Amino acid sequence: MASRGNFSNQFGFIAAAAGSAVGLGNIWKFPFEVTKGGGAAFVVMYLAFCFIFCYPILVAEISIGRNTKQNPLGALRTLGSKKWGIVGILGIVCGTIILSFYHVVAGWSLGYFVEIVKGNFDIGNSFGDFVKDTSPRTMPNVTFYTTIFTCLTAYIVYRGVKQGIELTSKILMPTLIIIIVVLFVYGLTLPHALSGIEFYLIPDFSKINFTVIYSALGQAFFSLSLGMGTLITYGSYLDRKVTIHKAAAYITLADVGIAFLAGLMIFPFLGFMNDGVLDNVEGGAGLIFQTLPLFFQELGTPGKVVGPVFFLLLSFAALTSAVSLLEVAVTYLIDEFKLKRRTAVLIASTFIFLLGIPSLLAHGSSSFFSEFITYGNSEKATDFMSLAEDLANDSLLPLGGCLIAFFTVYIWKKHNFYAELKRGSNLKADGFVIKYIMFSLKYICIPILSIIFILTILDHFLGIQLI
Ligand code: TRP
Repeated sequence: MASRGNFSNQFGFIAAAAGSAVGLGNIWKFPFEVTKGGGAAFVVMYLAFCFIFCYPILVAEISIGRNTKQNPLGALRTLGSKKWGIVGILGIVCGTIILSFYHVVAGWSLGYFVEIVKGNFDIGNSFGDFVKDTSPRTMPNVTFYTTIFTCLTAYIVYRGVKQGIELTSKILMPTLIIIIVVLFVYGLTLPHALSGIEFYLIPDFSKINFTVIYSALGQAFFSLSLGMGTLITYGSYLDRKVTIHKAAAYITLADVGIAFLAGLMIFPFLGFMNDGVLDNVEGGAGLIFQTLPLFFQELGTPGKVVGPVFFLLLSFAALTSAVSLLEVAVTYLIDEFKLKRRTAVLIASTFIFLLGIPSLLAHGSSSFFSEFITYGNSEKATDFMSLAEDLANDSLLPLGGCLIAFFTVYIWKKHNFYAELKRGSNLKADGFVIKYIMFSLKYICIPILSIIFILTILDHFLGIQLI
């Protein structure tokens, strides 16, 4: 195992894991999920889920990874049995699906950066045309940007754990936080900023229904990169000296904090753009892509700086997350098939890029993929990318999380899990933290996540609402 990489220290690990967690999920997806979920009520659910379900599972994933020093499949097979390897495979498949559409949205972001640098603020009005144009004859377009983004991700993963993943995250993460804070402060000075903040922060609990709960849960898992082995993989590069439960707490706080800040940054903008009336704002994949460029345009000269910076930031955030998704498939290929890193990166990236083509075409350029399938209660056909999202985020991630909780409690077992947690820390076995983590895995995560998983499948795919 001498060829496996390693993070240099606790900060390197936290930067990389937080870099994985903080991404399009926080800045692109979180605001439109909040708008769809009726505002602050969604935010409250999301925060609760992150701490109740996700933190303990995060600790479990990192411990499994560090204990075995293997990819998700190898790790679960070693600590459990051959059968459990299937859960590892499920994770790798899920990550592959996520990355296939993640590249596409990251490509939009990169394209927006270039367009806005060129002064084309009107792009906000032509989001539909922008994402539709995929023809090789009209390059550079989204096909080009998605390809560039795929290559960048591949290059960083090829550079390896320390020189690639860790270094990039250490530079990009702090930059990102600074930019968000600057934009947030700036947004506060605008008219109607406060109505935006109000919509975002004052909950109206009558808006909570099961659909909101499912998407808040899916969002919590997606945002923390949980449920598919990213953190098993990153944990496998972690030194025994690091205190896992503390590192996991920092990662959760960084992710939740940045999502929260991103909301604080965007909702004043939305308040300003909609003259203070946010109830009817349509939340969807286009939310930030349609609204923000027009906003930057209205700002005049400052917008010429803020605009490009924003989309650059979004692309950066996406890059460190995409890297973590690709790394899972790459470690799997390296560990299981003894491939060289370079070969593994080439195979995985090419495969994922090809798998992403239907998502690339799903926004109007191919009617087959844009109106791919009709399911559940919806009368409208769902496009391929939304199908991939429904399947991976809302269904497979919570399922993966639930299986990992089950695995930790009943297969790997408490004493082994505790022994790993105690390495590098002075935790007492009967201390509050350990007790809380175990309690949550056993009595909260396993039962509730399995119920929610079944309800989600029934609701999303079969249109049956039991409750
Ligand atoms: N968490 C990232 C985001 O918020 C996306 C991501 C990276 C992810 N790795 C993951 C999602 C693993 C699920 C599983 O954008």
